[in-house]
Amino acid sequence: AYYQEPYRPQFHFSPDSMWMNDPNGMVFHNGAYHLFYQYYPDSNVWGPMHWGHAISQDLLSWEHLPIGLYPDSLGWIFSGSAVHDANNTSGLGQNGKGPLIAIFTHHNDPLAKAGSDAFQYQSLAYSLDEGQSWSKYAGNPVLPNPGIKDFRDPKVFWHQPSEQWVMALAVQDRIQFYSSPNLLQWAYLSEFGQGLGAQGGVWECPDLISLDLPGKDSTVWALLVSINPGGPNGGSATQYFLGDFDGTTFSPFPQFMAAVAADTLSGNPYWIDYGRDNYAGVTWSGAGNRQERLFMGWMSNWDYAQQVPTQRWRSAMTLPRALFLAESPDGLRLGSRPADALQHLRQQAQRFALETGEEPLSLAAIPSAAPGLELDIRLSWDTAQPPAQVIIRAENEAGEHFDIGVAPNEALLFADRSNAGPNGFSEQFARGAKAPLLSAPGEARLRLFYDRASCEAFTTDGLTAMTNLFFPSQPFTSFRILAQGGRVKAEGEFWELSRIWD
Ligand code: FRU
Repeated sequence: AYYQEPYRPQFHFSPDSMWMNDPNGMVFHNGAYHLFYQYYPDSNVWGPMHWGHAISQDLLSWEHLPIGLYPDSLGWIFSGSAVHDANNTSGLGQNGKGPLIAIFTHHNDPLAKAGSDAFQYQSLAYSLDEGQSWSKYAGNPVLPNPGIKDFRDPKVFWHQPSEQWVMALAVQDRIQFYSSPNLLQWAYLSEFGQGLGAQGGVWECPDLISLDLPGKDSTVWALLVSINPGGPNGGSATQYFLGDFDGTTFSPFPQFMAAVAADTLSGNPYWIDYGRDNYAGVTWSGAGNRQERLFMGWMSNWDYAQQVPTQRWRSAMTLPRALFLAESPDGLRLGSRPADALQHLRQQAQRFALETGEEPLSLAAIPSAAPGLELDIRLSWDTAQPPAQVIIRAENEAGEHFDIGVAPNEALLFADRSNAGPNGFSEQFARGAKAPLLSAPGEARLRLFYDRASCEAFTTDGLTAMTNLFFPSQPFTSFRILAQGGRVKAEGEFWELSRIWD
Protein backbone atom coordinates (compact mmCIF):
# COMPACT_ATOMS: atom_id res chain seq x y z
CA ALA A 1 0.00 0.00 0.00
CA TYR A 2 0.96 3.61 -0.60
CA TYR A 3 3.21 5.25 2.00
CA GLN A 4 3.23 2.27 4.37
CA GLU A 5 6.94 1.46 4.44
CA PRO A 6 8.63 1.32 7.84
CA TYR A 7 9.42 4.89 9.05
CA ARG A 8 7.26 6.44 6.33
CA PRO A 9 5.78 9.66 7.75
CA GLN A 10 1.99 9.35 7.92
CA PHE A 11 1.05 13.01 8.38
CA HIS A 12 4.15 14.81 7.15
CA PHE A 13 5.16 15.58 3.59
CA SER A 14 7.77 13.27 2.08
CA PRO A 15 8.61 12.65 -1.58
CA ASP A 16 7.32 9.43 -3.09
CA SER A 17 10.89 8.35 -3.76
CA MET A 18 14.50 9.52 -3.75
CA TRP A 19 16.36 12.36 -2.09
CA MET A 20 14.84 15.58 -0.71
CA ASN A 21 16.28 18.48 1.29
CA ASP A 22 15.21 22.12 1.75
CA PRO A 23 11.68 23.38 1.10
CA ASN A 24 11.80 25.88 -1.79
CA GLY A 25 9.50 28.29 -3.59
CA MET A 26 6.66 28.06 -1.08
CA VAL A 27 3.90 30.28 -2.43
CA PHE A 28 0.14 30.34 -1.87
CA HIS A 29 -1.69 31.18 -5.07
CA ASN A 30 -5.29 30.75 -6.19
CA GLY A 31 -6.23 28.47 -3.32
CA ALA A 32 -3.18 26.21 -3.60
CA TYR A 33 -0.14 25.94 -1.37
CA HIS A 34 2.81 25.20 -3.63
CA LEU A 35 5.73 23.36 -2.12
CA PHE A 36 8.90 22.93 -4.14
CA TYR A 37 11.88 21.16 -2.66
CA GLN A 38 15.51 20.34 -3.26
CA TYR A 39 15.25 17.04 -5.06
CA TYR A 40 17.54 14.51 -6.69
CA PRO A 41 15.35 12.08 -8.66
CA ASP A 42 18.11 9.57 -9.42
CA SER A 43 19.29 8.61 -5.95
CA ASN A 44 18.45 8.57 -2.26
CA VAL A 45 21.47 10.74 -1.44
CA TRP A 46 22.17 14.37 -2.41
CA GLY A 47 23.25 15.03 -6.01
CA PRO A 48 22.49 17.36 -8.95
CA MET A 49 19.58 19.36 -7.59
CA HIS A 50 16.15 19.83 -9.14
CA TRP A 51 13.03 21.43 -7.69
CA GLY A 52 10.46 18.75 -6.90
CA HIS A 53 6.88 20.04 -6.69
CA ALA A 54 3.71 19.29 -4.74
CA ILE A 55 0.52 21.20 -3.98
CA SER A 56 -2.06 21.18 -1.24
CA GLN A 57 -5.37 22.93 -0.70
CA ASP A 58 -5.47 22.37 3.04
CA LEU A 59 -1.83 21.95 4.15
CA LEU A 60 -2.69 18.37 5.06
CA SER A 61 -2.96 16.23 1.94
CA TRP A 62 -0.44 16.78 -0.84
CA GLU A 63 -0.56 15.98 -4.52
CA HIS A 64 2.77 15.20 -6.19
CA LEU A 65 3.32 17.15 -9.43
CA PRO A 66 5.97 16.74 -12.11
CA ILE A 67 9.42 18.16 -11.33
CA GLY A 68 9.22 21.96 -11.54
CA LEU A 69 12.79 22.89 -12.42
CA TYR A 70 15.53 20.79 -14.03
CA PRO A 71 19.25 21.58 -14.09
CA ASP A 72 20.37 23.39 -17.26
CA SER A 73 23.55 24.71 -18.88
CA LEU A 74 23.93 27.30 -16.10
CA GLY A 75 23.90 24.73 -13.33
CA TRP A 76 21.96 22.73 -10.81
CA ILE A 77 18.91 24.29 -9.16
CA PHE A 78 19.68 25.16 -5.55
CA SER A 79 17.35 26.67 -2.96
CA GLY A 80 15.22 29.77 -3.52
CA SER A 81 11.75 31.24 -3.30
CA ALA A 82 8.69 32.02 -5.41
CA VAL A 83 6.29 34.96 -5.59
CA HIS A 84 3.16 35.89 -7.46
CA ASP A 85 4.08 38.95 -9.56
CA ALA A 86 0.49 40.18 -9.41
CA ASN A 87 1.16 43.54 -11.07
CA ASN A 88 3.36 42.00 -13.75
CA THR A 89 6.33 44.17 -12.72
CA SER A 90 8.55 41.69 -14.56
CA GLY A 91 6.62 42.00 -17.81
CA LEU A 92 6.82 38.21 -18.06
CA GLY A 93 3.06 37.83 -17.64
CA GLN A 94 0.56 37.48 -20.44
CA ASN A 95 -2.94 38.77 -21.22
CA GLY A 96 -2.95 41.05 -18.21
CA LYS A 97 -2.09 38.19 -15.86
CA GLY A 98 0.93 38.36 -13.58
CA PRO A 99 3.18 35.28 -13.62
CA LEU A 100 4.40 33.11 -10.77
CA ILE A 101 8.12 33.69 -10.49
CA ALA A 102 10.71 31.40 -8.96
CA ILE A 103 14.02 32.93 -7.89
CA PHE A 104 16.71 30.35 -7.24
CA THR A 105 20.45 29.77 -7.11
CA HIS A 106 22.11 28.20 -10.10
CA HIS A 107 25.05 26.14 -8.85
CA ASN A 108 27.57 25.60 -11.61
CA ASP A 109 29.47 22.49 -10.64
CA PRO A 110 32.03 22.45 -13.49
CA LEU A 111 33.03 26.01 -12.52
CA ALA A 112 33.31 24.97 -8.87
CA LYS A 113 35.47 22.00 -9.84
CA ALA A 114 37.66 24.23 -12.01
CA GLY A 115 38.54 26.17 -8.86
CA SER A 116 36.50 29.29 -9.64
CA ASP A 117 34.77 31.05 -6.74
CA ALA A 118 32.01 32.42 -8.96
CA PHE A 119 29.90 29.27 -9.29
CA GLN A 120 26.68 30.35 -7.55
CA TYR A 121 24.39 33.04 -8.99
CA GLN A 122 20.70 33.87 -8.91
CA SER A 123 18.29 33.10 -11.75
CA LEU A 124 14.56 33.21 -12.55
CA ALA A 125 11.93 30.93 -13.94
CA TYR A 126 8.29 31.87 -14.56
CA SER A 127 4.99 30.11 -14.94
CA LEU A 128 1.95 31.36 -16.83
CA ASP A 129 -0.26 28.38 -15.94
CA GLU A 130 -0.55 28.54 -12.15
CA GLY A 131 2.74 26.73 -11.57
CA GLN A 132 2.08 23.70 -13.75
CA SER A 133 4.91 24.40 -16.15
CA TRP A 134 7.96 26.64 -15.86
CA SER A 135 10.22 28.46 -18.32
CA LYS A 136 13.67 29.70 -17.45
CA TYR A 137 14.16 33.43 -18.02
CA ALA A 138 16.33 34.06 -21.11
CA GLY A 139 18.42 36.71 -19.32
CA ASN A 140 19.68 34.42 -16.53
CA PRO A 141 21.49 34.93 -14.27
CA VAL A 142 19.72 38.00 -12.88
CA LEU A 143 22.27 38.42 -10.08
CA PRO A 144 25.78 37.37 -11.16
CA ASN A 145 28.42 36.22 -8.74
CA PRO A 146 30.87 38.88 -7.47
CA GLY A 147 33.60 36.33 -6.72
CA ILE A 148 32.19 34.92 -3.48
CA LYS A 149 31.97 31.16 -2.96
CA ASP A 150 28.82 30.91 -0.87
CA PHE A 151 26.30 33.20 -2.54
CA ARG A 152 22.88 31.60 -2.49
CA ASP A 153 19.32 30.88 -1.40
CA PRO A 154 17.45 34.05 -2.47
CA LYS A 155 14.21 34.76 -0.58
CA VAL A 156 12.18 37.52 -2.19
CA PHE A 157 9.20 39.56 -0.97
CA TRP A 158 7.42 42.77 -1.97
CA HIS A 159 8.25 45.59 0.47
CA GLN A 160 5.18 47.79 0.32
CA PRO A 161 6.52 50.92 2.11
CA SER A 162 9.39 51.32 -0.37
CA GLU A 163 7.45 49.76 -3.29
CA GLN A 164 10.18 47.40 -4.37
CA TRP A 165 11.07 43.76 -4.33
CA VAL A 166 13.61 42.84 -1.67
CA MET A 167 15.87 39.79 -1.74
CA ALA A 168 17.60 38.31 1.29
CA LEU A 169 20.64 36.29 0.21
CA ALA A 170 23.02 34.10 2.23
CA VAL A 171 26.59 35.21 1.62
CA GLN A 172 29.12 33.14 3.59
CA ASP A 173 28.83 34.42 7.17
CA ARG A 174 26.24 37.15 6.60
CA ILE A 175 23.03 38.12 4.85
CA GLN A 176 22.96 40.60 1.99
CA PHE A 177 19.87 42.49 0.84
CA TYR A 178 19.17 43.49 -2.74
CA SER A 179 16.26 45.40 -4.27
CA SER A 180 14.53 45.39 -7.62
CA PRO A 181 11.61 47.16 -9.30
CA ASN A 182 10.92 44.19 -11.58
CA LEU A 183 12.62 41.04 -10.24
CA LEU A 184 14.99 41.16 -13.22
CA GLN A 185 17.51 43.86 -12.22
CA TRP A 186 18.89 43.77 -8.71
CA ALA A 187 20.76 46.47 -6.77
CA TYR A 188 22.78 45.90 -3.61
CA LEU A 189 21.23 47.47 -0.50
CA SER A 190 23.11 46.42 2.63
CA GLU A 191 24.37 43.51 4.64
CA PHE A 192 23.85 42.20 8.13
CA GLY A 193 25.40 39.74 10.49
CA GLN A 194 29.16 39.67 10.20
CA GLY A 195 30.41 38.55 13.61
CA LEU A 196 26.87 38.35 15.01
CA GLY A 197 24.78 35.42 16.23
CA ALA A 198 25.93 31.87 15.70
CA GLN A 199 28.93 31.66 13.39
CA GLY A 200 29.91 27.99 13.67
CA GLY A 201 29.21 27.31 10.01
CA VAL A 202 28.04 28.81 6.75
CA TRP A 203 24.85 30.92 6.71
CA GLU A 204 22.11 29.59 4.43
CA CYS A 205 18.45 29.99 3.51
CA PRO A 206 17.54 33.40 4.98
CA ASP A 207 14.04 34.85 5.27
CA LEU A 208 13.01 38.37 6.29
CA ILE A 209 9.41 38.73 7.47
CA SER A 210 7.37 41.42 9.16
CA LEU A 211 4.91 40.76 11.98
CA ASP A 212 2.63 43.04 13.96
CA LEU A 213 2.62 43.15 17.71
CA PRO A 214 -0.85 42.02 18.75
CA GLY A 215 -2.92 44.97 19.91
CA LYS A 216 -0.22 47.50 19.01
CA ASP A 217 0.37 49.53 15.93
CA SER A 218 3.98 48.50 15.43
CA THR A 219 5.80 46.18 13.11
CA VAL A 220 8.72 43.95 14.00
CA TRP A 221 11.00 42.32 11.44
CA ALA A 222 12.33 38.82 11.96
CA LEU A 223 15.37 37.61 10.04
CA LEU A 224 15.66 33.83 9.87
CA VAL A 225 19.13 32.43 9.18
CA SER A 226 19.93 28.77 8.85
CA ILE A 227 23.43 27.70 9.78
CA ASN A 228 25.32 24.49 9.18
CA PRO A 229 27.12 23.38 11.26
CA GLY A 230 26.81 25.40 14.46
CA GLY A 231 23.29 24.59 15.68
CA PRO A 232 22.65 24.67 19.45
CA ASN A 233 22.67 20.87 19.65
CA GLY A 234 25.02 20.14 16.78
CA GLY A 235 24.88 20.32 13.01
CA SER A 236 22.13 22.20 11.20
CA ALA A 237 19.67 24.66 12.79
CA THR A 238 17.89 27.97 12.19
CA GLN A 239 18.60 31.07 14.26
CA TYR A 240 16.65 34.32 14.13
CA PHE A 241 17.10 38.02 14.84
CA LEU A 242 14.39 40.57 15.69
CA GLY A 243 14.71 44.16 14.60
CA ASP A 244 13.64 46.79 12.13
CA PHE A 245 13.88 46.99 8.35
CA ASP A 246 13.53 50.36 6.60
CA GLY A 247 13.66 49.14 3.03
CA THR A 248 17.44 49.30 2.96
CA THR A 249 18.93 48.08 6.23
CA PHE A 250 18.03 45.48 8.82
CA SER A 251 18.84 46.80 12.31
CA PRO A 252 18.49 44.33 15.18
CA PHE A 253 16.88 45.65 18.36
CA PRO A 254 19.60 46.43 20.93
CA GLN A 255 17.52 44.74 23.68
CA PHE A 256 17.27 41.62 21.53
CA MET A 257 21.00 41.50 20.85
CA ALA A 258 21.70 42.11 24.55
CA ALA A 259 19.48 39.17 25.50
CA VAL A 260 21.26 37.04 22.90
CA ALA A 261 24.64 38.02 24.32
CA ALA A 262 23.49 37.28 27.89
CA ASP A 263 22.11 33.83 27.09
CA THR A 264 24.59 31.14 27.90
CA LEU A 265 22.15 28.29 28.42
CA SER A 266 21.92 26.76 25.00
CA GLY A 267 24.54 28.75 23.22
CA ASN A 268 23.31 32.06 22.00
CA PRO A 269 21.50 33.17 19.93
CA TYR A 270 17.83 32.22 19.58
CA TRP A 271 16.58 29.37 17.47
CA ILE A 272 13.38 28.63 15.59
CA ASP A 273 13.64 25.07 16.86
CA TYR A 274 16.11 23.54 19.31
CA GLY A 275 15.72 19.96 18.10
CA ARG A 276 18.18 18.23 15.84
CA ASP A 277 15.83 18.05 12.87
CA ASN A 278 14.46 21.31 11.59
CA TYR A 279 16.60 23.03 8.99
CA ALA A 280 16.44 25.47 6.08
CA GLY A 281 12.86 26.46 6.94
CA VAL A 282 11.33 29.64 5.54
CA THR A 283 7.83 31.12 5.28
CA TRP A 284 5.18 30.89 2.60
CA SER A 285 4.77 33.83 0.27
CA GLY A 286 1.17 35.03 0.06
CA ALA A 287 -0.11 33.11 3.11
CA GLY A 288 -0.67 34.09 6.72
CA ASN A 289 -1.54 37.56 7.97
CA ARG A 290 -0.01 40.48 9.84
CA GLN A 291 0.19 38.49 13.04
CA GLU A 292 1.32 35.08 11.90
CA ARG A 293 3.21 33.57 9.02
CA LEU A 294 3.22 30.04 7.76
CA PHE A 295 6.55 28.19 8.03
CA MET A 296 7.92 24.78 7.11
CA GLY A 297 11.40 23.29 7.48
CA TRP A 298 13.34 20.26 6.31
CA MET A 299 13.06 17.63 9.06
CA SER A 300 16.66 16.45 9.06
CA ASN A 301 20.22 17.48 9.75
CA TRP A 302 23.25 17.47 7.46
CA ASP A 303 25.06 15.56 10.25
CA TYR A 304 23.37 12.32 9.14
CA ALA A 305 20.61 13.10 6.62
CA GLN A 306 22.15 10.91 3.94
CA GLN A 307 22.57 7.93 6.27
CA VAL A 308 19.15 7.61 7.92
CA PRO A 309 17.72 4.09 7.48
CA THR A 310 15.12 4.64 4.78
CA GLN A 311 15.69 3.39 1.26
CA ARG A 312 12.91 4.31 -1.16
CA TRP A 313 12.95 7.96 -0.12
CA ARG A 314 15.02 10.12 2.19
CA SER A 315 13.71 12.97 4.35
CA ALA A 316 10.41 14.60 5.21
CA MET A 317 9.35 18.18 5.95
CA THR A 318 8.33 19.40 9.40
CA LEU A 319 4.68 20.06 10.10
CA PRO A 320 3.46 23.40 8.79
CA ARG A 321 3.74 25.95 11.60
CA ALA A 322 2.64 29.46 12.42
CA LEU A 323 5.36 31.93 13.43
CA PHE A 324 4.26 34.85 15.62
CA LEU A 325 5.65 37.38 18.08
CA ALA A 326 5.69 36.11 21.64
CA GLU A 327 6.57 37.76 24.95
CA SER A 328 9.20 35.98 27.02
CA PRO A 329 10.32 36.92 30.53
CA ASP A 330 13.21 38.82 28.98
CA GLY A 331 11.59 40.40 25.98
CA LEU A 332 10.14 39.70 22.60
CA ARG A 333 10.78 36.44 20.78
CA LEU A 334 9.60 34.62 17.68
CA GLY A 335 7.10 31.96 18.71
CA SER A 336 5.94 28.92 16.81
CA ARG A 337 3.02 26.56 17.01
CA PRO A 338 1.59 23.87 14.77
CA ALA A 339 -0.67 25.21 12.01
CA ASP A 340 -4.37 25.18 12.96
CA ALA A 341 -5.16 22.96 9.98
CA LEU A 342 -3.62 20.03 11.85
CA GLN A 343 -6.63 19.90 14.18
CA HIS A 344 -8.52 18.27 11.30
CA LEU A 345 -6.36 15.17 11.70
CA ARG A 346 -7.63 14.54 15.23
CA GLN A 347 -9.76 11.52 15.90
CA GLN A 348 -11.71 11.18 19.15
CA ALA A 349 -10.33 13.22 22.08
CA GLN A 350 -9.33 11.22 25.13
CA ARG A 351 -8.73 12.96 28.42
CA PHE A 352 -6.42 12.09 31.28
CA ALA A 353 -5.79 13.53 34.74
CA LEU A 354 -3.07 11.81 36.73
CA GLU A 355 -0.85 12.35 39.69
CA THR A 356 2.43 10.55 39.72
CA GLY A 357 4.78 9.31 42.38
CA GLU A 358 7.98 7.65 41.28
CA GLU A 359 6.16 4.94 39.28
CA PRO A 360 5.59 5.52 35.57
CA LEU A 361 1.95 6.19 34.68
CA SER A 362 0.31 5.44 31.39
CA LEU A 363 -0.91 8.42 29.39
CA ALA A 364 -1.92 6.75 26.17
CA ALA A 365 -1.78 3.44 24.40
CA ILE A 366 -2.32 3.28 20.66
CA PRO A 367 -2.35 0.40 18.16
CA SER A 368 0.86 -0.14 16.21
CA ALA A 369 -1.07 0.64 13.04
CA ALA A 370 -2.10 4.10 14.30
CA PRO A 371 -0.67 6.77 12.00
CA GLY A 372 0.32 9.03 14.86
CA LEU A 373 -0.52 10.74 18.10
CA GLU A 374 -1.00 14.28 19.33
CA LEU A 375 -0.56 14.77 23.05
CA ASP A 376 -1.47 18.03 24.81
CA ILE A 377 -0.13 17.80 28.33
CA ARG A 378 -0.23 20.22 31.24
CA LEU A 379 2.29 19.42 33.95
CA SER A 380 2.33 21.00 37.38
CA TRP A 381 4.26 20.48 40.56
CA ASP A 382 4.79 22.02 43.96
CA THR A 383 7.46 24.72 43.54
CA ALA A 384 8.73 23.88 47.04
CA GLN A 385 9.42 20.29 45.91
CA PRO A 386 9.98 20.30 42.17
CA PRO A 387 10.78 16.97 40.51
CA ALA A 388 14.30 16.70 39.11
CA GLN A 389 12.85 15.57 35.79
CA VAL A 390 9.51 14.78 34.24
CA ILE A 391 9.77 12.54 31.20
CA ILE A 392 7.19 11.77 28.56
CA ARG A 393 8.27 8.44 27.20
CA ALA A 394 7.14 6.94 23.90
CA GLU A 395 7.91 3.22 23.95
CA ASN A 396 7.50 0.11 21.81
CA GLU A 397 7.24 -3.58 22.68
CA ALA A 398 10.97 -4.00 22.13
CA GLY A 399 11.56 -1.59 25.01
CA GLU A 400 13.01 1.10 22.76
CA HIS A 401 11.96 4.54 23.87
CA PHE A 402 12.12 8.20 22.93
CA ASP A 403 12.02 10.69 25.80
CA ILE A 404 10.93 14.30 25.87
CA GLY A 405 11.35 15.83 29.28
CA VAL A 406 11.52 18.90 31.43
CA ALA A 407 14.06 19.58 34.17
CA PRO A 408 12.41 22.29 36.30
CA ASN A 409 15.46 23.25 38.35
CA GLU A 410 17.54 23.86 35.26
CA ALA A 411 14.61 25.37 33.31
CA LEU A 412 15.28 22.92 30.48
CA LEU A 413 13.31 21.05 27.87
CA PHE A 414 15.22 18.05 26.58
CA ALA A 415 14.97 15.12 24.20
CA ASP A 416 16.79 11.80 24.46
CA ARG A 417 16.80 9.42 21.52
CA SER A 418 19.82 7.37 22.56
CA ASN A 419 17.58 4.33 23.27
CA ALA A 420 15.00 4.98 20.58
CA GLY A 421 16.09 2.21 18.23
CA PRO A 422 19.05 1.36 16.02
CA ASN A 423 21.28 4.41 15.56
CA GLY A 424 24.54 2.92 14.34
CA PHE A 425 24.07 4.39 10.85
CA SER A 426 25.76 7.59 12.05
CA GLU A 427 27.87 8.46 15.08
CA GLN A 428 26.12 11.80 15.18
CA PHE A 429 22.60 10.50 15.47
CA ALA A 430 22.25 9.39 19.11
CA ARG A 431 22.95 12.86 20.44
CA GLY A 432 19.90 14.48 21.97
CA ALA A 433 18.83 18.09 22.37
CA LYS A 434 18.35 20.68 25.11
CA ALA A 435 16.49 23.95 25.08
CA PRO A 436 15.47 26.70 27.48
CA LEU A 437 12.09 26.17 29.08
CA LEU A 438 10.64 29.57 29.87
CA SER A 439 7.34 28.47 31.47
CA ALA A 440 6.06 30.02 34.69
CA PRO A 441 7.35 28.36 37.90
CA GLY A 442 5.59 25.12 38.82
CA GLU A 443 4.18 24.28 35.42
CA ALA A 444 4.86 23.38 31.82
CA ARG A 445 2.50 22.74 28.95
CA LEU A 446 3.54 20.82 25.88
CA ARG A 447 1.97 19.85 22.61
CA LEU A 448 3.62 16.80 21.12
CA PHE A 449 3.15 15.32 17.65
CA TYR A 450 4.42 11.80 17.13
CA ASP A 451 4.68 10.39 13.62
CA ARG A 452 6.38 7.06 12.76
CA ALA A 453 9.86 8.53 12.84
CA SER A 454 9.59 11.96 14.46
CA CYS A 455 8.39 13.97 17.42
CA GLU A 456 7.71 17.70 17.33
CA ALA A 457 7.36 19.36 20.71
CA PHE A 458 5.94 22.85 21.20
CA THR A 459 5.62 24.70 24.48
CA THR A 460 2.26 26.41 24.46
CA ASP A 461 3.75 29.83 25.12
CA GLY A 462 5.31 29.35 21.67
CA LEU A 463 8.79 30.09 22.96
CA THR A 464 10.39 26.69 22.48
CA ALA A 465 10.00 24.15 19.71
CA MET A 466 11.95 20.91 19.46
CA THR A 467 11.87 18.51 16.52
CA ASN A 468 13.67 15.18 16.55
CA LEU A 469 13.77 12.07 14.37
CA PHE A 470 14.01 8.47 15.59
CA PHE A 471 14.03 5.06 13.93
CA PRO A 472 12.60 2.46 16.34
CA SER A 473 12.53 -1.16 15.18
CA GLN A 474 8.72 -1.11 15.60
CA PRO A 475 6.26 1.75 16.12
CA PHE A 476 5.88 3.36 19.53
CA THR A 477 2.56 2.30 21.03
CA SER A 478 2.75 3.28 24.67
CA PHE A 479 3.11 6.78 26.05
CA ARG A 480 3.91 7.14 29.71
CA ILE A 481 4.97 9.77 32.18
CA LEU A 482 7.83 9.33 34.62
CA ALA A 483 8.57 11.79 37.40
CA GLN A 484 11.90 11.64 39.16
CA GLY A 485 12.46 13.11 42.59
CA GLY A 486 9.04 14.67 43.13
CA ARG A 487 5.32 14.41 42.48
CA VAL A 488 3.71 15.74 39.35
CA LYS A 489 0.17 16.34 38.14
CA ALA A 490 -0.42 15.65 34.49
CA GLU A 491 -3.64 16.61 32.80
CA GLY A 492 -4.55 16.80 29.21
CA GLU A 493 -5.85 15.14 26.11
CA PHE A 494 -4.57 12.97 23.34
CA TRP A 495 -5.80 12.18 19.87
CA GLU A 496 -4.86 9.50 17.41
CA LEU A 497 -4.19 11.30 14.15
CA SER A 498 -5.34 10.37 10.67
CA ARG A 499 -3.10 9.65 7.71
CA ILE A 500 -2.74 12.30 5.01
CA TRP A 501 -1.88 9.84 2.22
CA ASP A 502 -4.38 7.61 0.48
C1 FRU B 1 20.79 24.05 2.69
C2 FRU B 1 21.51 24.03 1.35
C3 FRU B 1 21.35 25.36 0.64
C4 FRU B 1 21.54 24.98 -0.79
C5 FRU B 1 20.91 23.61 -0.85
C6 FRU B 1 21.55 22.67 -1.81
O1 FRU B 1 20.47 22.78 3.16
O2 FRU B 1 22.89 23.74 1.55
O3 FRU B 1 22.22 26.37 1.09
O4 FRU B 1 20.93 25.89 -1.68
O5 FRU B 1 20.97 23.08 0.45
O6 FRU B 1 20.82 21.48 -1.94
